[in-house]
Amino acid sequence: MINKCLFPAAGYGTRFLPATKSMPKEMLPIVDKPLIQYGVEEAMGAGLMTMAIVTGRGKRAMEDHFDVNYELEHQIKGSDKELHLEEIRNIMDTCTFSYTRQVEMKGLGHAILSGEPLIGDEAFAVVLADDLCLANDDGVLSQMVRLYKQFRCSIVAIEEVPMDEVHKYGVIKGEMIREGIYQINEMVEKPAMEDAPSNLAIIGRYILTPDIFDILRNTTPGVGGEIQITDALMQQAKEGCVLGYKFKGKRFDCGSIAGFIDATNYCYKKFY
Ligand code: UTP
Repeated sequence: MINKCLFPAAGYGTRFLPATKSMPKEMLPIVDKPLIQYGVEEAMGAGLMTMAIVTGRGKRAMEDHFDVNYELEHQIKGSDKELHLEEIRNIMDTCTFSYTRQVEMKGLGHAILSGEPLIGDEAFAVVLADDLCLANDDGVLSQMVRLYKQFRCSIVAIEEVPMDEVHKYGVIKGEMIREGIYQINEMVEKPAMEDAPSNLAIIGRYILTPDIFDILRNTTPGVGGEIQITDALMQQAKEGCVLGYKFKGKRFDCGSIAGFIDATNYCYKKFY
C-alpha cells in the first residue's frame, strides 16, 4: 500500500561545515554507517523497498554508496572484511534507488515537490535522514505505516520538546483522538516560544498523501523565504485530516553537532 520512501537530502548542511563542503551531510557516519543508510534500513523495516532520493550538487557520494564498488569488493573478497559489506549488499539486493536533483534549495516543501516524478500518484513516506530514529523491533516508520492503513491520511511524527527549543521545529496543536494520536488543527513553523501552540514538535518522519504535490505547487514561500511542508500540511488539515503521531522510540537530531555526538555515543555503547 505504501511502497515508496522519499529522502529529501539536498540541503547544504551548513552546521557541519567544513565537513559538508564537498560531502553530503547524509553521508556522515554514526560510528561506521552513514545516516542515509540508517534511514533506508528503517524504511525497509516498514516494508518499503522503493527509495527515491532528492539530491543536489556535490551529493554524488550517496549514489555511489548504494552501488557496487568492483575494485574494493574484488580486493577484500574472501577476507573477514567482506562481512562489513553484508548489510549494504542486502539493501542493494532488496531495494531499488532512484534519484532526482533539487536545482535550487528552496526549502523542504520544495524538495518534496521535486521528488514528485519519482513518486507519482500514491501515498508515500518521507524520511529526513538527519533525524536518526531508533526503536527496538518496531521502527518509527513501521508504526506510522500501520497507522496510515487505519486512517488513510497524511501523518507527521511528533515529539515533546522543551519550550525553549520549539523555535527550531514545526509545532502542532490538535485534538487527541487516541492515546498519542492527534488530529491537527494548527501548525506553525519555527514559532517563538510565546507564539507556539504547544511543545509538540514535528520531526523528520512523514506519511503523505499525493494531493500534497498540488498543494505544494501553490504554496508560497513562508518562514525563511522557503517553501515549507508545514504550510502545505496545514492546508491539508483544513481540507481534510492530518494526524500527529507521538512515536515510540528515540530520536537524535543529527543535523546539529550536539545531537550527532549524542547519537554516536549512544550507538557505540548499544551496538558495538
Ligand atoms: P535542514 O534545514 O535541517 O538541513 O533541512 P540543511 O539546510 O541541510 O542544514 P543546515 O541548517 O544548513 O545545517 C531538513 C532536511 O531537508 C532537506 C535537508 O537535506 C534535510 O534533510 N532539505 C532542506 C532539502 O532537501 N532541500 C532544501 O532546500 C532544504
